[in-house]
Amino acid sequence: MGRVIKVISLKHFFVLSMALNVSLILRAINQDNRAPMAVQKGINAAQMTFLSFPLLSSPTAAAPATQPLGQNGRERVINLDHGDPTMYEKYWKQMGDKATIVIPGWQSMSYFSDVKNLCWFLEPEFAKQIVRLHKVVGNALTEGRHIVVGTGSSQLFSAALYALAPQDASNPISVVSAAPYYSCYPLMTDSIKSGLHKWAGDAKVFNKDEPYVELVTSPNNPDGFVRHSMVNRTGGILVHDLAYYWPQYTPISSPADNDLTLFTVSKITGHAGMRIGWALVKDVEVAKKMTKFIELNTIGVSKDSQIRAAKVLEVVSDSCEQAGGSEHVESFFHFSHALMTERWRMLREAVKRSGIFSLPEFSSAHCNFFDNNLGSQPAFAWLKCDGDDVHDCESFLRRHKILTRGGKHFGVSPKYVRISMMDREETYDLFIQRLSQIRS
Ligand SMILES: Cc1ncc(COP(=O)(O)O)c(C=O)c1O
Repeated sequence: MGRVIKVISLKHFFVLSMALNVSLILRAINQDNRAPMAVQKGINAAQMTFLSFPLLSSPTAAAPATQPLGQNGRERVINLDHGDPTMYEKYWKQMGDKATIVIPGWQSMSYFSDVKNLCWFLEPEFAKQIVRLHKVVGNALTEGRHIVVGTGSSQLFSAALYALAPQDASNPISVVSAAPYYSCYPLMTDSIKSGLHKWAGDAKVFNKDEPYVELVTSPNNPDGFVRHSMVNRTGGILVHDLAYYWPQYTPISSPADNDLTLFTVSKITGHAGMRIGWALVKDVEVAKKMTKFIELNTIGVSKDSQIRAAKVLEVVSDSCEQAGGSEHVESFFHFSHALMTERWRMLREAVKRSGIFSLPEFSSAHCNFFDNNLGSQPAFAWLKCDGDDVHDCESFLRRHKILTRGGKHFGVSPKYVRISMMDREETYDLFIQRLSQIRS
């Protein structure tokens, strides 16, 4: 026991001294960058070392993945609870070595990427490819914004709350989002029971006369609708989560021009395992505080992942600019848009055949990227069990061995479920086959 305590203490001491050393080096390098250091006030050493978030907690985190082929199709459990974007594997296999990178053993060793940049752990090549891709797609303005990289946009979500919450308020700031909201928001907001922010539920019914942060997810997870701020008054601080504002999911109507916007590689290209996201931030002080949060939390973001993400985004932009040429027959977004179109066609047909479910209807809009009038085809299907005898759609589908996430996790009725549309083809085909055979 004594030995265990000794080992733990040594480990803690090592991590702590590393964090302090990095902070000291940064202080020396970044003389004019005083605000982030000021943010450190009030954060003790233990918090610096142990700011961590159980982000993958979900209703069926321990549920089995869809079982492998070879089993009787009717017996297989189909897990479409998580939004794991494995459907894009097919495209990247077709790309062969175009997106392959080799990282020699001596590379990416330093903590630092660009000490002159406010976000000192942002790899310059990754920043360049972010700006390029937004320009190619036309979905966000990058001029006059600071880019902050995060370990997934999940880390940037926490960093944003940390940066936006008043540090000296007597009560935590309320965090709201219109229901149905992304099920991880309440969990992430309250996971460390921070004194800075607290989850306050549905933005549509929030009426307290106090400051608040509103999370605007557009298109929305879980229901796929385009969204704007919903709190019925001004003065709130908005965080736009545009994880799905890409041409395969929704028409690109105009470049996003917000104060703080979050993006993630996970849902653009499907590389969720890289754990890379970025924030476009107008206010320099907010960007500095977000950077500080990540410094305290993980002392930066994996360079290897950023270098790989840069390569993947480069291939996506190349595919758009060179579509129809010998290197790229079609753009990545043509490929993924066609795939989503086909999946939604199959789903609507299966729902019609079954007769006991319904789906949202989306109006079409002009997409500047495809230069065409198009509908939405979200990454999730927001399915409703219509029958009076089914009150809990998640349990109902579970009896048919289809795992989904029920409405209560998104702040609404259990008659709804969220179903991932981004799984591999064989899983999706099996799901469609099973759904179309369900009768009440
Ligand atoms: C709306 C939304 N925001 C953020 C995330 C998290 O993305 P990341 O993988 O970058 O942490 C997800 C993932 O499902 C999401 O749906």
